[in-house]
Amino acid sequence: MVATARAAANIAFVKYWGNRCPALNLPANSSISLTLSNCTAVTTVAVDGSLNEDVVYYGTSLANDAVTARVRRFLGAVRQRARREEKARVQTSNNFPVGCGIASSAAGFAALALAASRAYGLLLDTQELSCLARLGSGSACRSVLGGFVEWVAGTSHETSCARQLADHDHWPELRDIVVIVSKAPKEQSSSEGHALAPTSPLYEARLAYLGAVLETTRRAIATRDLRLLGEVLEPEAFCLHAIAMTTSRPVLYWTPETVDVLRRVFEWRRQGLEAYCTLDAGPNVHIITVAEVAAELVPRLRAHGYNELIVDRPGPGAQLLSQPPPQ
Ligand code: PMV
Repeated sequence: MVATARAAANIAFVKYWGNRCPALNLPANSSISLTLSNCTAVTTVAVDGSLNEDVVYYGTSLANDAVTARVRRFLGAVRQRARREEKARVQTSNNFPVGCGIASSAAGFAALALAASRAYGLLLDTQELSCLARLGSGSACRSVLGGFVEWVAGTSHETSCARQLADHDHWPELRDIVVIVSKAPKEQSSSEGHALAPTSPLYEARLAYLGAVLETTRRAIATRDLRLLGEVLEPEAFCLHAIAMTTSRPVLYWTPETVDVLRRVFEWRRQGLEAYCTLDAGPNVHIITVAEVAAELVPRLRAHGYNELIVDRPGPGAQLLSQPPPQ
C-alpha cells in the first residue's frame, strides 16, 4: 500500500518550549501557530513486506542515521496502532532549507503521519492524526491543520492535540516573510532545548505569563488585529530566546545578521511600517505583517543584501496527494 501526503511548516506566535512528558512530547504549555502556504514537505510511504527494516530517503539519497532512527521509531508507533508488522519505504523532500529554524520537522512529521497512517490502513480523524504527528515532533501536531491553530497542551496522549482557531481564508492578507540569514545546522536541537528549558531561572516566569499571552493571541487572530498580535508575539519569541541563553547549557541562536534584521524592522516600524518579528530555535527571522507592508519590506530587505526570502501567507493543513484504493 502506498500513500503520499503534503504538509506545511508552521510558525508559532506562542511557542512550545519545554515538555511535561518527553516520551510523548506532552508540552509544558499550549501554543498557537500559523500554518504556512509555501514551506512544504511531501512524503510517500510504501509498505513493503519484503523489507527487513524501514528504508528512509531524503530526496534521492538515503537519510542520515539520526533521521532514519527517528522515522523508524515513528513508524513503529503507527504499526502498533494498525496492528501491522511489515516495514516501509519512506521518501520525503522539502521545498525549503531544513534544520535552521523553519519548522522542517513539523512539516515532515505531519506529512509522514498522514501518509503512513493511510499506507497502513488507518483512517484517523483530524484529532487522532494530530496526536499521532505529535509523537514525531511536538509542533507537527499543529501542521496537520491549516490556518490558525492552537495546540492544547492536554495531560495525556489523547488530549494533547491541535484545534483550528480559524481557517486559512480568515486573514488572507497576513504574511510571514522568512529572512534566511543562515542555513547552518542548529547549534542545539529543539529536543535538547525542551529538556534544558527548566534549568533557566526565567522558565517558571514564562509559563506564568503565557496564559495572558495565549488569550491575547486568540483575540488578535479573531479580530485580525496585527498590532495586538505583534505586541504579544515579539516579546514571546524573545522570551524563548532569553530562556535558551540562560539554561545550564546556554545557546545563542542569533547571528550578527539576525540582530541587523531585527534592528531594521524596529526602525521601519518606527517609520510606520507595521511589522513584527518572531524566531524559532534558530537565527532566521520571521517578519509577521500584511501584504501591503510586505510589498514595501521585501525590496528594502533585498537592498540590504537579504536575498533569501520566502513570503508565506496562511496555508491549508496536511493533504493526501494519493492514497491506496479502498479495500
Ligand atoms: O516540535 P519541536 O520539538 O521541533 O519544537 C518546536 C519548537 C519551536 O519551533 C521553537 C517553537 C514552536 O512551537 O514551534
